[in-house]
Amino acid sequence: MRTIIEPFRIKSVEPIELSTPGQRDRWLADAGYNLFKLPADRVLIDLLTDSGTAAMSAAQWAAVMAGDESYAGARSWYRFEETVRRVFGFPHVVPTHQGRAAERILFSCTVKTGDVVPNNAHFDTTSANIEYLGGQAVDLPCAEAADPTSEDAFKGNMDVDSLDKLLADRSEAVPLIMLTITNNTGGGQPVSMANIRAVAETARRYGKPFYIDACRFAENAWFIKLREDGYADVPVPEIVREMFSYADGCTMSAKKDALVNIGGFLCTRDPSLAAREKDLLILTEGFPTYGGLAGRDLEAIAQGLEEVLAEDYLRYRIVSTAYVVDHLHGAGVPVLRPAGGHAVYLDAGRVLPQVPSLQYPGQSLAVELYRHAGIRGVEIGTVMAGCDPHTHEERPARLELVRLAIPRRVYTQSHMDYVVEATVEVFEHRESLRGYRIVDEPPFLRHFTASFAPL
Ligand code: F0G
Repeated sequence: MRTIIEPFRIKSVEPIELSTPGQRDRWLADAGYNLFKLPADRVLIDLLTDSGTAAMSAAQWAAVMAGDESYAGARSWYRFEETVRRVFGFPHVVPTHQGRAAERILFSCTVKTGDVVPNNAHFDTTSANIEYLGGQAVDLPCAEAADPTSEDAFKGNMDVDSLDKLLADRSEAVPLIMLTITNNTGGGQPVSMANIRAVAETARRYGKPFYIDACRFAENAWFIKLREDGYADVPVPEIVREMFSYADGCTMSAKKDALVNIGGFLCTRDPSLAAREKDLLILTEGFPTYGGLAGRDLEAIAQGLEEVLAEDYLRYRIVSTAYVVDHLHGAGVPVLRPAGGHAVYLDAGRVLPQVPSLQYPGQSLAVELYRHAGIRGVEIGTVMAGCDPHTHEERPARLELVRLAIPRRVYTQSHMDYVVEATVEVFEHRESLRGYRIVDEPPFLRHFTASFAPL
């Protein structure tokens, strides 16, 4: 069949409150034109993030009821640990309340002032955690990533030559190498197995540990199956095992590809690092058999990690993202192509050429999508890039994007048709849109709390 259906039925629904552009105009002013500050009840289609927004399955809710809430050694912990070990193949598993806690603990044990951490592209919490420790987060995306029109199959790849050069020049300053799959900041684009292997080989040559930021590992594995020679007939769990077999460990936000609303973990092959991580864990997250999570959360993650590897699910997931990208592209709206896994990235730089980077074209487009149709996306451009931590100068982003992230198993095709229609309408009146200025901002991660004013 040509139509790929959502491979689930809906048994529990949440109403969406409708609103008018006039109401939303007032609500925007109240929120300082920052969509993070809107009460979610005032949003019609919430595409702010795919993180923690998944609909859990009946089996996950059943697992929640079976959660063992013992402080130490809960049954739910052993199920969680066994599942993570089996899916990812790492011997040491450290649970955390979400991905950034895993990052903080890993980097606190490995990064010191003056260090440099390379990545294909750091997510904002990853770079902020490195910078907070006095390190420098360096993005080394492949050349194709800079071209929003390139149809390359693996635009999430790292530029391995640049990695080699960085290591040749400053090896002593590099405590570890990270690779983010899929590459969220670079457009949700996948990383190929060949690239994972090449990064691992380079890391090994310089004796550096290699860690994967694994948030969207299943989506990445599906792209490898679809696009990389030799993987069409390999089952997804085997692709996943191979991906992680090249790494020394990973950080994971379970809020993405574990199909849950909260949780994360950290894995490693290094027993002494695992011991140091657990000492820190006890200080701020909790005992090593729950790490800031309830037993029921550990159960839901274990169940979610099984469900996310189902091919019917992954086929539907990737096709539904591509559906929006392809329809927008067909209507002439500049979008990052080919479609990534978890989100649609509108190329605000090309939609609004009249708005310079330092007047935040992505913010302008995101605000207008909300005003016009109640759709909440997020700017991924100069606002999110923030200021250089040392010079405090603003850093214009390489690309000015608006991300429409698609929560897992939450919206149907008619919701996505509405998103396409609304985005095309905003595109049609793009010449009337103006930029913004920042009224106030915090010292880091400014996009969450800054206030804006229209110019
Ligand atoms: N790494 C990547 C690639 C991410 O996308 C995120 C979160 C994190 C780490 C941090 O995980 O939120 O559980 O602490 N990304 C969300 C997003 C917030 O909207 O893309 P966390």
